[in-house]
Amino acid sequence: MDKFLWKIIEKEIKRQEETIDLIPSENFVDLETLFIVGSPLMIKYAEGFVGKRYYPGNRFVDKIENLAIKRALKAFKLGPEWGCNVQSYSGSPANLAVLLGLAEPGSKIMGLSLSSGGHLTHGHQVSYTGKLFKSFQYSVKDQLNYDEILKLAKKVKPKIIISGTTSYPRKIDFKKFFEIAKEVGAYHLADISHIAGLVIANLHPSPFKWADVVTTTTHKTLRGPRGAVIFYRKELEEKIQKSVFPGLQGGPHVHTIAGIAYAFWRVSKKDFKNYQKNVLKNSLSLCNFLKSFGFEFFTGGTDNHLMVIDLKNLGIDGKYAERLLEKSDILANRNVLPEDKKPFTPSGLRLGTPAITSRGLKEKEMRIIAEFIKEVILERKNVKEKVRDFIKNFPLPYKDWLKKIRSLI
Ligand SMILES: Cc1ncc(COP(=O)(O)O)c(C=O)c1O
Repeated sequence: MDKFLWKIIEKEIKRQEETIDLIPSENFVDLETLFIVGSPLMIKYAEGFVGKRYYPGNRFVDKIENLAIKRALKAFKLGPEWGCNVQSYSGSPANLAVLLGLAEPGSKIMGLSLSSGGHLTHGHQVSYTGKLFKSFQYSVKDQLNYDEILKLAKKVKPKIIISGTTSYPRKIDFKKFFEIAKEVGAYHLADISHIAGLVIANLHPSPFKWADVVTTTTHKTLRGPRGAVIFYRKELEEKIQKSVFPGLQGGPHVHTIAGIAYAFWRVSKKDFKNYQKNVLKNSLSLCNFLKSFGFEFFTGGTDNHLMVIDLKNLGIDGKYAERLLEKSDILANRNVLPEDKKPFTPSGLRLGTPAITSRGLKEKEMRIIAEFIKEVILERKNVKEKVRDFIKNFPLPYKDWLKKIRSLI
């Protein structure tokens, strides 16, 4: 047994247990996901696709991948006009695969700027999506302005318009993006990495009627393993599939694909919808409590699982606030806001409720968390002890996982 490594892993597990995790892209998975993703499936090479592998021994892998595809399509109630690829290693390679599959390098693309809530892979200059393509970014002053997006699209005439966000707390009108894309002859790629769980639970409008391709990570509101799924209209199948393999990747991670199949099985259970409802209720309630303490918010509030505090009125930056909170074992990450000049000391702080809701926290606990945040940021108190006492009432299943592992190795 690699005692040295296990000591570090156990410390990380303890850190997770004792922390209030408000990072909206993180979520806790259940024991079954941990076991599936750590299963012997991990050793298998399966380059290619179901029924068309470049390696032998894939008869059960084919069944697993088929199951993941079928369940992913069913989760979003998609008909035969849609197909789906479950092999992308994560959200960033999924987006790159779509862009390279639908457009030649050097083509024009349009996405939301990072400082307005977009993702790096939506064409930011430091990402290869911004280097390989001529990237034009739209931004937000107050909320998404579809007239301005249309104006830019008409001027630029991009090949692809990306909708979807990383730190934008409002509903997205995917129909408007479709109309804009149609008007300028562009593909519409909707990246629902953050809101996929809310979409399945009908708590956010679905993009499928209005998009050519939809990408999502599987580990945020979806609560599955680290991975991604690309949904495409059937006429784009060859472009997308070839772009993932052999264009960008070799052997798919079969253990992750099995974890994705399991995640999409779980969405059919009643507790999934309740969970998503609670994520949303908790988010609105946390935001309201924080507002009552005087915190101000990017776009004025939230409609989804996340929110971004605008710290400008408090005279501190997001990095400082992030550090203060971390000292009290509360995690929320700094976030750039539209008029920020310095990305390392931005004026936003992003918070979300998927992970704490997975631990069973409800609206009444949101008041307690908001008070912790107030004490730390407004009163400069350290509340580490109080956080530990509070969060231990919402245990994670790690003790059972560790016990099982210790009994085996
Ligand atoms: C909207 C969006 N797309 C893509 C990604 C990239 O996912 P990954 O970190 O798995 O590469 C993220 C990650 O936060 C995201 O928020």
